[in-house]
Amino acid sequence: MEGPGTGLQRLLRQRRSVRSFDPARPVPEGAVRKIIGAGLAVPSPSGSLPVMIYQLESGAAREKLEREVTLARDALLRTADAKKKNRINYYWRYTNYLFSAPLVLAITHRPHPGLLESRGEDAARLTAGLSLFSMSLMAEDLGFSSTILTAPLAFCPDIGTKLGIGAGETLCSFMAIGKKKEGEKAAETERREPEAHFLKL
Ligand SMILES: Cc1cc2nc3c(=O)[nH]c(=O)nc-3n(C[C@H](O)[C@H](O)[C@H](O)COP(=O)(O)O)c2cc1C
Repeated sequence: MEGPGTGLQRLLRQRRSVRSFDPARPVPEGAVRKIIGAGLAVPSPSGSLPVMIYQLESGAAREKLEREVTLARDALLRTADAKKKNRINYYWRYTNYLFSAPLVLAITHRPHPGLLESRGEDAARLTAGLSLFSMSLMAEDLGFSSTILTAPLAFCPDIGTKLGIGAGETLCSFMAIGKKKEGEKAAETERREPEAHFLKL
């Protein structure tokens, strides 16, 4: 994707996951609404929109997230051997910046009633993925950066329940959004060559 291109081409080219946000620059309410709107303006099975998007706005919810995920990490560390400890600490770097991100979202899905159970669950998960990507592009378009995070769930699989999210919903991902910290270079890996992932049958 070289050259200036259309708006969409530019967004796809420039979007990268960012893990260091400027704490002094919150995401204004209008932008939050647009980002959530993008997450809900996605195709879904029979238009069922089997996703919910939660903004962790209150100090209490944010503290609970940090406390529960940190406690779960500490419990894992207590029984880990040296190799596992290294892996836990590595994954922690892909988790802990969430706690101080200017905007924290949690995305849940629930199977659409009436569909076969397994298909409903898969379709709901796919729809949540569409919502996440749609929100990341909208954030980018508004001048913000974002990252999708599932690592917190690897530490604390029941974080959804702990945050008070209903039993019928599955929390599948978090999203951190904000202004990239000035001067901070994102740890960017090269994009993969399309040839390795695109085949014709
Ligand atoms: C389903 C999914 C889960 C991810 N989980 C995490 C995560 O827990 N922590 C994190 O820092 N990044 C996470 N990422 C971001 C990826 O690491 C990132 O997209 C990848 O390294 C490619 O970089 P790019 O987004 O800059 O193109 C996740 C991305 C996806 C799609």
